[in-house]
Amino acid sequence: MKRQLLYIVLSLALVSFIGITTQEDRWKAPKGAKELKNPIKASKRTESVKRGAKIFKTRCMICHGAQGKGDGIGGKALTPKPQNLTLKMVKSQTDGEIFWKITNGRNDMIKWRPILSEEQRWDVVNYVRTLK
Ligand code: HEC
Repeated sequence: MKRQLLYIVLSLALVSFIGITTQEDRWKAPKGAKELKNPIKASKRTESVKRGAKIFKTRCMICHGAQGKGDGIGGKALTPKPQNLTLKMVKSQTDGEIFWKITNGRNDMIKWRPILSEEQRWDVVNYVRTLK
């Protein structure tokens, strides 16, 4: 009887531990990132998306794949894997959150701030928005 109780307590502890770690593992941009305004005007978006597509091809496709599904050859051996950018969990984020992640990186996702200009990062955000 005592032993059974111990098992129950231990498995409850394990379940909550797994819950916490998987939750922490999801990459969340900090609060302020959500409100970052996309500075590229609606009338300039088509041009911006075109520039973003070029940047994506040369800089991101290797890991995120041609359609952004996270299946690029450069990402095969990485843990965690390059994110599938067509998923709802990415689409549901604001432009600012995606911009923040591209800017700051995490794990094998490169920190693009020193490599791409601010405008280039917004161009690539606008392109990522078009992925289906
Ligand atoms: C070296 C491989 C690699 C390259 C190149 C790369 N990424 Fe990533 N990217 C990753 C990995 C790995 C993750 C997941 C990181 C994590 O969850 O810790 C990621 C995550 C992301 C995310 C976050 C999605 C989310 O909400 O969790 C975005 C957005 C993103 N990448 C966009 C880009 C863009 C845009 C480029 C090109 C400018 C790029 N990546 C280039 C590997 C790469």
